[in-house]
Amino acid sequence: MKIIQITDTHLSQSKPHFNGNWAPLVCWINETGADLVVHTGDLSVDGADSDEDLSFSMDLMRQVSVPMLIVPGNHDVGHLPGSAQPVNAERLARWRRIVGPDYWVKDIGDWRLIGLDSLLMGCEDTEEQAQFDWLQRTLAERGGRRVAIFAHKPLFVDDAQEGDTGYWSVRPLQRRRLYDLIAAHDVAFFGSGHLHWSWKGQFGQTALVWAPPTAFILDKMEREMPGERLIGAAVHEFGEDVTSELVAVPGMTAYFLDDVVEEVYPQAAPKKHSEQAQ
Ligand SMILES: [Fe+2]
Ligand SMILES: [Fe+2]
Repeated sequence: MKIIQITDTHLSQSKPHFNGNWAPLVCWINETGADLVVHTGDLSVDGADSDEDLSFSMDLMRQVSVPMLIVPGNHDVGHLPGSAQPVNAERLARWRRIVGPDYWVKDIGDWRLIGLDSLLMGCEDTEEQAQFDWLQRTLAERGGRRVAIFAHKPLFVDDAQEGDTGYWSVRPLQRRRLYDLIAAHDVAFFGSGHLHWSWKGQFGQTALVWAPPTAFILDKMEREMPGERLIGAAVHEFGEDVTSELVAVPGMTAYFLDDVVEEVYPQAAPKKHSEQAQ
């Protein structure tokens, strides 16, 4: 089974800075012979506050002729409590109305694919608890299937045991809950986006992949992170195990967010660009 993972398309009709990368990506996906596409979030520039951005992004997603499953990013449903656009009932309702469920399960052959709403993690509310309860049940009922999880945010950035990375990864408390579930349920794979860096690694028995973003990479506005600056997609082959390739896609442009951040995310205060924009 071949799964193409795409992430961080950051599409918008009113802010079309990165829209040019969509057509070559669709063209390439439609010729790969993939069985499924998984989008790991930040579909839109500002779906967290704009019906139009989410609707526009979904219209473009429908150009892909391969079935697609999608989880939300922080620019689609909001982010942590106390941030400029916290996850709330209105934002979740917008996503669920325009896109669909923000977490899901799909069984294909010997694999159970699980999509998580990583933006609920850190809310410490009933929505977060409901997803963890659902995840526990969904893992427990996997039968003999191996498990692959997709989410917007990575489990960690530099070190599996690091402290709170703030904006960047799942917070330590929720990360610990995920680690315990991953260890107990034969989770073979965890694929994410959000950082706009591309990387492959390992955590215990679990393969970790940060897929290349579609929209942009970062030059100097943020610290270096593990991996490489790459615009493209990830190609996963799910057999007895998973093999993953991070690939450049012909015709896509390596836009730097640094060059346009004032236009695309003007609400970001200069010293906080990095906290607002990925
Ligand atoms: Fe993000
Ligand atoms: Fe992003």
